[in-house]
Amino acid sequence: MQVPTPICIPIVTGMTGLEIHPFAEEHLPGAGRLLAERHRRHRVAEPLLPPAFEDSAVAEKAVAAAARAEDASGSVATRGGEVVGYLLGAPKSQSSWGPNVWVESAGHAGDPETARELYAAAATRWVDEGRTAHYVLLPSYDDDLVRAWFRLAFGHQHTHAIQAPPTEVPPPRPGLSVRRPVRADIPALARLEASLPRHQALAPTFSSGPLGSYQESLAEWEEDFDDPVYTTFVVEHDGTVVGSAVGCALERSSIHTGPARPENAAFLGFAAVLPEARGLGAGRAVGDAVAAWATEAGFDSVVTDWRETNLLSSRAWRGLGYRDTFTRVHRLIGH
Ligand SMILES: CC(C)(COP(=O)(O)OP(=O)(O)OC[C@H]1O[C@@H](n2cnc3c(N)ncnc32)[C@H](O)[C@@H]1OP(=O)(O)O)[C@@H](O)C(=O)NCCC(=O)NCCS
Repeated sequence: MQVPTPICIPIVTGMTGLEIHPFAEEHLPGAGRLLAERHRRHRVAEPLLPPAFEDSAVAEKAVAAAARAEDASGSVATRGGEVVGYLLGAPKSQSSWGPNVWVESAGHAGDPETARELYAAAATRWVDEGRTAHYVLLPSYDDDLVRAWFRLAFGHQHTHAIQAPPTEVPPPRPGLSVRRPVRADIPALARLEASLPRHQALAPTFSSGPLGSYQESLAEWEEDFDDPVYTTFVVEHDGTVVGSAVGCALERSSIHTGPARPENAAFLGFAAVLPEARGLGAGRAVGDAVAAWATEAGFDSVVTDWRETNLLSSRAWRGLGYRDTFTRVHRLIGH
């Protein structure tokens, strides 16, 4: 889709000299410069993020991709003709996310109060279009910016995080042992896979993701067991498999893109421990095994993500050393 040309008279806000316009092609260079500046500050806080987006030309391409996504729209803030903030969103699958608009990692930069003005302008159109479920990925280092979005009635839904590949990991606790799976473990792997969406459907996560079934998981494991793209570990407790985790290259994940996708990064893409064995150290054992695999395989970082309302994973992965990089906030309009 082409970036739209402005059709509205700019809104002049009460903030000194600030004008809010619909986002248009002419704003791309200024938005690219702002994203690069944001990313430079982000990398001071988290040097493992990709250096390329510190370059305004690279950042501008990422903004252009956000602006040209299907049904994208957004707003831009200028002061004296200079771009000082922008916000760009586009919808994703309605079955997963409701009548939605997503602002991805390259979709927003600007100071906190300008962010609130940008949202007011962009969300007018989004809600007029019937898109009432809003998702915004924010740089976690910027507490003031995240707080500004909380002051727009958004809540912290999801977290992206990173750590350096570890030089060593602690041995599993007594009674636990970690190994690569064999085909005889497929029923246990399928049961573990089915346990994750079931856990996330419960309070307080209340995820609406598909529950799948044990039979479907079994069939998928039978087919994909030897796929070299994925590296799986299982953990036994007193001789029974109670947990698993899967590592792969981060490129396999569609939710880590643009400034949120470090080059040559590994991804902790799945982990689960059976309900009766949680809290015994099994999650740490398989999570650490994936991180150790990332080191051996020569990756430069390990990335993961979790629902912030998932009490177990939000504690476990920070406990294992993952540091927040992007904070996804969510607002459902209407009440
Ligand atoms: C998330 C999950 C894999 C973690 O496995 P687990 O076996 O329960 O976790 P562990 O006992 O190994 O604990 C891992 C770390 O969490 C942290 N932790 C656990 N409980 C905690 C608490 N109450 N407060 C703070 N930190 C806590 C600790 O750092 C702990 O490691 P440590 O005790 O060695 O320091 C598991 O709980 C699970 O399957 N949850 C449901 C499915 C799921 O959420 N999967 C992940 C999706 S992203």
